Amino acid sequence: MEVTEREYTREADALVFSKDGEPIHIRPLRPTDADLLEDLFKSLSPQSIFYRFLRHWKTVPAEVIDSFKNPDCRLNVVMVALDKISSEERMLGLCGILRKPGSERGELAVVVRDEWQGIGVGAKLVEASLPAAKALGMKELWGTISLENTTTIALASKLGFTLRRDRESDSYEIEMRF
Ligand SMILES: CC(C)(COP(=O)(O)OP(=O)(O)OC[C@H]1O[C@@H](n2cnc3c(N)ncnc32)[C@H](O)[C@@H]1OP(=O)(O)O)[C@@H](O)C(=O)NCCC(=O)NCCS
Repeated sequence: MEVTEREYTREADALVFSKDGEPIHIRPLRPTDADLLEDLFKSLSPQSIFYRFLRHWKTVPAEVIDSFKNPDCRLNVVMVALDKISSEERMLGLCGILRKPGSERGELAVVVRDEWQGIGVGAKLVEASLPAAKALGMKELWGTISLENTTTIALASKLGFTLRRDRESDSYEIEMRF
Protein backbone atom coordinates (compact mmCIF):
# COMPACT_ATOMS: atom_id res chain seq x y z
CA MET A 1 0.00 0.00 0.00
CA GLU A 2 1.24 3.46 -0.91
CA VAL A 3 1.86 5.64 2.16
CA THR A 4 0.71 9.21 1.66
CA GLU A 5 2.67 12.23 2.80
CA ARG A 6 0.06 12.92 5.47
CA GLU A 7 0.29 9.39 6.85
CA TYR A 8 4.08 9.63 6.87
CA THR A 9 3.93 12.85 8.88
CA ARG A 10 1.50 11.41 11.44
CA GLU A 11 3.08 7.97 11.74
CA ALA A 12 6.56 9.44 12.03
CA ASP A 13 5.59 11.21 15.26
CA ALA A 14 7.00 8.88 17.92
CA LEU A 15 8.15 8.65 21.50
CA VAL A 16 11.29 6.54 21.80
CA PHE A 17 13.81 5.89 24.56
CA SER A 18 17.57 6.40 24.53
CA LYS A 19 19.89 3.68 25.81
CA ASP A 20 19.84 5.56 29.15
CA GLY A 21 16.04 5.33 29.23
CA GLU A 22 15.56 9.04 28.42
CA PRO A 23 12.28 9.72 26.60
CA ILE A 24 12.87 11.36 23.23
CA HIS A 25 10.29 12.71 20.84
CA ILE A 26 11.04 12.08 17.17
CA ARG A 27 8.99 13.90 14.55
CA PRO A 28 9.28 15.86 11.30
CA LEU A 29 10.65 19.42 11.59
CA ARG A 30 7.95 22.09 11.80
CA PRO A 31 8.21 25.73 10.64
CA THR A 32 7.73 26.75 14.31
CA ASP A 33 10.98 24.91 15.25
CA ALA A 34 13.24 27.69 13.89
CA ASP A 35 14.58 28.81 17.30
CA LEU A 36 15.20 25.22 18.50
CA LEU A 37 16.95 24.45 15.24
CA GLU A 38 19.18 27.48 15.56
CA ASP A 39 20.03 26.54 19.15
CA LEU A 40 21.00 22.99 18.07
CA PHE A 41 23.34 24.18 15.32
CA LYS A 42 24.87 26.87 17.56
CA SER A 43 25.60 24.24 20.26
CA LEU A 44 27.75 22.02 18.01
CA SER A 45 31.49 21.60 18.61
CA PRO A 46 33.89 22.25 15.70
CA GLN A 47 34.44 18.45 15.55
CA SER A 48 30.72 17.72 15.13
CA ILE A 49 30.42 20.57 12.62
CA PHE A 50 33.29 19.12 10.60
CA TYR A 51 31.83 15.60 10.63
CA ARG A 52 28.38 16.89 9.67
CA PHE A 53 29.32 19.46 7.01
CA LEU A 54 32.88 18.37 6.13
CA ARG A 55 33.93 22.00 6.56
CA HIS A 56 36.35 23.44 9.10
CA TRP A 57 33.91 26.01 10.47
CA LYS A 58 34.06 27.20 14.10
CA THR A 59 30.31 27.83 13.96
CA VAL A 60 27.62 26.92 11.45
CA PRO A 61 27.05 29.95 9.16
CA ALA A 62 23.66 31.67 9.56
CA GLU A 63 22.73 31.11 5.91
CA VAL A 64 23.32 27.36 6.33
CA ILE A 65 21.07 27.29 9.42
CA ASP A 66 18.43 29.30 7.55
CA SER A 67 18.49 26.84 4.65
CA PHE A 68 17.11 24.14 7.01
CA LYS A 69 14.22 26.18 8.36
CA ASN A 70 11.57 25.59 5.71
CA PRO A 71 12.24 22.32 3.92
CA ASP A 72 9.82 21.25 1.18
CA CYS A 73 8.33 18.24 2.98
CA ARG A 74 6.87 16.82 -0.25
CA LEU A 75 10.43 16.41 -1.48
CA ASN A 76 12.65 16.08 1.59
CA VAL A 77 12.71 14.35 4.96
CA VAL A 78 13.84 16.43 7.93
CA MET A 79 13.32 14.52 11.16
CA VAL A 80 14.20 15.98 14.54
CA ALA A 81 14.71 14.55 18.04
CA LEU A 82 13.47 16.57 21.02
CA ASP A 83 14.19 16.28 24.71
CA LYS A 84 11.01 15.28 26.54
CA ILE A 85 12.18 15.70 30.11
CA SER A 86 13.52 19.22 30.52
CA SER A 87 10.92 21.91 31.14
CA GLU A 88 12.41 23.85 28.26
CA GLU A 89 12.15 21.88 25.01
CA ARG A 90 15.49 21.27 23.33
CA MET A 91 16.34 19.91 19.91
CA LEU A 92 18.78 17.03 20.38
CA GLY A 93 19.43 16.12 16.78
CA LEU A 94 18.36 16.33 13.18
CA CYS A 95 18.43 13.92 10.25
CA GLY A 96 17.93 15.35 6.78
CA ILE A 97 17.40 13.44 3.56
CA LEU A 98 17.42 16.03 0.79
CA ARG A 99 17.07 15.66 -2.95
CA LYS A 100 16.77 17.70 -6.09
CA PRO A 101 13.31 18.02 -7.71
CA GLY A 102 12.71 15.05 -10.03
CA SER A 103 15.41 12.92 -8.39
CA GLU A 104 14.77 9.61 -6.62
CA ARG A 105 18.16 9.86 -4.87
CA GLY A 106 18.32 11.54 -1.47
CA GLU A 107 21.41 12.71 0.40
CA LEU A 108 21.34 11.73 4.07
CA ALA A 109 23.13 13.58 6.86
CA VAL A 110 22.56 13.45 10.59
CA VAL A 111 23.80 15.30 13.64
CA VAL A 112 23.23 14.96 17.40
CA ARG A 113 24.00 17.58 20.06
CA ASP A 114 27.47 16.79 21.45
CA GLU A 115 26.47 15.96 25.03
CA TRP A 116 23.72 13.63 23.74
CA GLN A 117 25.90 11.59 21.41
CA GLY A 118 26.46 7.87 22.00
CA ILE A 119 23.13 7.03 23.67
CA GLY A 120 21.16 5.99 20.61
CA VAL A 121 19.62 9.29 19.44
CA GLY A 122 21.37 9.23 16.03
CA ALA A 123 20.31 5.65 15.35
CA LYS A 124 16.67 6.40 16.29
CA LEU A 125 16.66 9.48 14.05
CA VAL A 126 17.99 7.63 11.01
CA GLU A 127 15.70 4.64 11.67
CA ALA A 128 12.69 7.00 11.66
CA SER A 129 13.88 8.82 8.53
CA LEU A 130 14.37 5.77 6.29
CA PRO A 131 10.68 4.75 5.99
CA ALA A 132 9.78 8.43 5.56
CA ALA A 133 12.16 8.70 2.59
CA LYS A 134 10.68 5.55 1.12
CA ALA A 135 7.15 6.91 1.60
CA LEU A 136 8.12 10.03 -0.36
CA GLY A 137 9.21 7.87 -3.30
CA MET A 138 12.98 7.91 -2.85
CA LYS A 139 14.67 4.81 -4.26
CA GLU A 140 18.24 5.41 -3.19
CA LEU A 141 20.05 7.18 -0.36
CA TRP A 142 23.66 8.31 -0.23
CA GLY A 143 25.99 10.30 1.97
CA THR A 144 29.62 11.22 2.51
CA ILE A 145 31.52 10.36 5.69
CA SER A 146 34.96 11.52 6.73
CA LEU A 147 37.43 8.60 7.02
CA GLU A 148 38.01 9.12 10.74
CA ASN A 149 34.30 9.35 11.65
CA THR A 150 34.17 5.90 13.25
CA THR A 151 30.77 6.46 14.94
CA THR A 152 29.01 7.19 11.65
CA ILE A 153 30.85 4.37 9.87
CA ALA A 154 29.57 1.99 12.58
CA LEU A 155 26.06 3.48 12.47
CA ALA A 156 25.81 3.31 8.67
CA SER A 157 27.01 -0.32 8.61
CA LYS A 158 24.60 -1.26 11.40
CA LEU A 159 21.68 0.25 9.48
CA GLY A 160 22.53 -1.62 6.29
CA PHE A 161 24.26 1.04 4.18
CA THR A 162 27.08 -0.11 1.92
CA LEU A 163 30.35 1.79 2.27
CA ARG A 164 32.77 2.61 -0.52
CA ARG A 165 36.02 4.46 -0.09
CA ASP A 166 36.25 7.46 -2.42
CA ARG A 167 39.98 7.95 -2.97
CA GLU A 168 39.58 11.32 -4.70
CA SER A 169 37.85 13.04 -1.79
CA ASP A 170 39.46 10.80 0.85
CA SER A 171 36.10 9.91 2.39
CA TYR A 172 33.53 7.11 2.45
CA GLU A 173 30.44 7.20 0.27
CA ILE A 174 27.53 5.38 1.86
CA GLU A 175 24.60 4.08 -0.15
CA MET A 176 21.30 2.28 0.40
CA ARG A 177 18.72 1.15 -2.18
CA PHE A 178 15.10 0.51 -1.22
C1 LIG B 1 27.07 10.42 13.99
C2 LIG B 1 26.02 10.73 15.03
C3 LIG B 1 24.82 11.40 14.36
C4 LIG B 1 25.57 9.41 15.65
O1 LIG B 1 24.59 9.68 16.60
P1 LIG B 1 24.73 9.10 18.08
O2 LIG B 1 23.48 9.39 18.77
O3 LIG B 1 25.98 9.64 18.68
O4 LIG B 1 24.93 7.55 17.79
P2 LIG B 1 24.20 6.33 18.50
O5 LIG B 1 24.35 6.46 19.98
O6 LIG B 1 22.83 6.21 17.96
O7 LIG B 1 25.11 5.13 18.03
C5 LIG B 1 24.93 4.51 16.80
C6 LIG B 1 26.04 3.52 16.57
O8 LIG B 1 27.23 4.23 16.39
C7 LIG B 1 28.29 3.52 17.01
N1 LIG B 1 28.86 4.38 18.06
C8 LIG B 1 28.23 5.19 18.94
N2 LIG B 1 29.11 5.86 19.71
C9 LIG B 1 30.34 5.46 19.28
C10 LIG B 1 31.66 5.79 19.64
N3 LIG B 1 31.91 6.67 20.63
N4 LIG B 1 32.69 5.20 18.97
C11 LIG B 1 32.45 4.32 17.97
N5 LIG B 1 31.20 3.97 17.57
C12 LIG B 1 30.17 4.52 18.22
C13 LIG B 1 27.74 2.25 17.57
O9 LIG B 1 27.84 1.25 16.58
C14 LIG B 1 26.31 2.60 17.75
O10 LIG B 1 25.48 1.52 17.67
P3 LIG B 1 25.37 0.50 18.94
O11 LIG B 1 25.22 1.33 20.14
O12 LIG B 1 24.17 -0.34 18.64
O13 LIG B 1 26.63 -0.27 18.95
C15 LIG B 1 26.57 11.69 16.14
O14 LIG B 1 27.63 11.04 16.78
C16 LIG B 1 27.00 13.03 15.59
O15 LIG B 1 26.21 13.96 15.53
N6 LIG B 1 28.29 13.16 15.17
C17 LIG B 1 28.75 14.41 14.56
C18 LIG B 1 28.13 14.66 13.18
C19 LIG B 1 28.31 13.47 12.25
O16 LIG B 1 29.29 12.76 12.31
N7 LIG B 1 27.32 13.26 11.37
C20 LIG B 1 27.34 12.17 10.43
C21 LIG B 1 27.86 12.54 9.09
S1 LIG B 1 26.64 13.25 8.11
